[in-house]
Amino acid sequence: MTEQSPALDNLLTESRTFPPSEAFSAQANATADFYAEADADREAFWAKQAERLHWDTKWSQVLDWTTAPVAKWFVGGKLNVAYNCVDRHVDGGHGDQVAIHWVGEPGDSRDITYAQLKDEVSRAANAFESLGLTAGDRVAIQMPMVPEAIFAMLACARIGVLHSVVFGGFSPTALRSRVDDQAAKIVITTDGQYRRGKAAPMKVNVDEALEGAESVEKVIVVRRTGDEVPITEGRDLWWHELVDSQSAEHAPQAFDSEHPLFILYTSGTTGKPKGILHTSGGYLTQAAYTHHNVFDHKAGEDVYWCTADIGWITGHTYIVYGPLANRTTQVVYEGTPNTPHEGRHWEIVQQHKVSIYYTAPTLIRTFMKWGNEIPEKYDLSSLRVLGSVGEPINPEAWIWYRENVGANSAPIVDTWWQTETGGIMISPLPGVTATKPGSAQKALPGISAKVVDDQGAEVGKGGGGYLVLDKPWPGMLRGIWGDEQRFRETYWSRFADQGYYFAGDGAKYDADGDIWLLGRVDDVMNVSGHRISTTEVESALVSHPTVAEAAVVGAADPTTGQGIVAFVILRGNAVDGGEQAVQELRNHVAKEIGPIAKPRQILVVQELPKTRSGKIMRRLLRDVAENRQVGDVTTLADSSVMDLISSGLKSGK
Ligand code: PRX
Repeated sequence: MTEQSPALDNLLTESRTFPPSEAFSAQANATADFYAEADADREAFWAKQAERLHWDTKWSQVLDWTTAPVAKWFVGGKLNVAYNCVDRHVDGGHGDQVAIHWVGEPGDSRDITYAQLKDEVSRAANAFESLGLTAGDRVAIQMPMVPEAIFAMLACARIGVLHSVVFGGFSPTALRSRVDDQAAKIVITTDGQYRRGKAAPMKVNVDEALEGAESVEKVIVVRRTGDEVPITEGRDLWWHELVDSQSAEHAPQAFDSEHPLFILYTSGTTGKPKGILHTSGGYLTQAAYTHHNVFDHKAGEDVYWCTADIGWITGHTYIVYGPLANRTTQVVYEGTPNTPHEGRHWEIVQQHKVSIYYTAPTLIRTFMKWGNEIPEKYDLSSLRVLGSVGEPINPEAWIWYRENVGANSAPIVDTWWQTETGGIMISPLPGVTATKPGSAQKALPGISAKVVDDQGAEVGKGGGGYLVLDKPWPGMLRGIWGDEQRFRETYWSRFADQGYYFAGDGAKYDADGDIWLLGRVDDVMNVSGHRISTTEVESALVSHPTVAEAAVVGAADPTTGQGIVAFVILRGNAVDGGEQAVQELRNHVAKEIGPIAKPRQILVVQELPKTRSGKIMRRLLRDVAENRQVGDVTTLADSSVMDLISSGLKSGK
């Protein structure tokens, strides 16, 4: 990674910058002096951020890193996370403020105030205690985006029980392995879920998953679709029967700052999913601090919407913990973005006057594919900050987002972080940073990131390498559940000499020293000794007017080491994918990046294989590109996609 690739340099020819308007800066939460303040005394800076929370007992030490790589933040401090997210706001006189504008996919809706949220969470906490749950126990939650999912998470937090949310689209096998790994005592689910306009079963999948699961004592079922479900006597309980009759009074107990808050499983490149462990005080501090500053959130004024699912870390930190700690009024939407029509998100923005919108590049590119005329039909003038997360955002999607959603004025924050980091790490600060399409730019004040070479030495401006986090941060993972060895090996062994956390991402500094994320290092190709990021080639492809979406993989090549193979989806009104169109795209990439990046092969496809979280599964595309039998497709959102791609290629379509 130390060598300079001319191809990588070309990605950085994206030189547009968008300084914040004076009016925005004048009212922004963040100010430029935060960086210097944090640099001068990091621990004092974080201590100040922790003051946003209510602590029952103040900490005696900000950071104890003597037990590295397992950090202790706000040592000796005690707090209740749910109290901080709920009761505190009611006590502060904001009980009538809407916490959640919940929008169901079929069109039903529910507004939940902070006072109501407090009652719901308290009832659920009483119910969980009545079942014998005590601090340190684990509860698995597999639910769609219904309010009870949030109540359940907060109720667990309130009584010191660890929740482990499993994305609703995961298979019974996936759920089971997670339940077993943490020995969950209780599983919470719904009868069914609405997906693309139809009710789909959920409870039956949970039943299948739990057959013979020894740790599970009870299954709590929320009624959502009303479909009939089998009930196992003695094990299954209806949420409404169990919870609704409970008292709405529940005294929150203070837990140690390092008390575990949740486990969230994330897939590694190999092996079984890793149960990422997060704890209380540091995590909540970083969640609240980043949400406040990165989104410029103003309590009681903004209407915020993060489109993630609570099954992912973004849903944990930027739907549940960060926003609620900051007394946010937010939209929570249950369904898919094109049900019942492709303007659904914009309709919701218009209706609720959403002012902060946080989504993923994959969805932005989908919106592009659907066409500019869709957002144009709605009044999006309430939007004032736009966020992006989950993958590098290509400059074209960034500009499209700015122009078509942000009226050419809303700052875009491209936020880099991971399940493991707990909260945002690298991002522009709206009102402070002149943004650059495609770059996450700088570590936030209080956070330290570096781009280093193979040996762990920091590269200079214009240099590329590996992204590392060289100083502990409050929201950092405290381990992999039940597997400390794997925790050390996965994150801390690559740069053990320096004690750096290895993020697994490739990155580069531009001439200004801003950071550009280049995708996972396992997705970086090596063609004739030149390192080329899949992201970079994809970005070039989607900058062509006929391309809606592209995925690029490095396929083994006897001459060049790896050759670039691209899978592209053309825009609806584009010419069909004949030889001429393909040739034009190859030339376009050569022109955008350099001849070295010219794909060996471009395959026009109808769909790309994506996980349920919207990530393209390059592994499967690599199988196709290398003429192998396609591997495990069980984590795909739609497993028939691979058949479609393979048969399309065979028939020459
Ligand atoms: O490769 C980076 C990419 O997503 C990875 C983390 O994935 P996950 O744990 O599922 O969390 C996603 C939501 C925080 C990272 O290692 N990634 C995330 N955000 C960005 C990104 N890559 C580039 N730019 C981003 N803004």
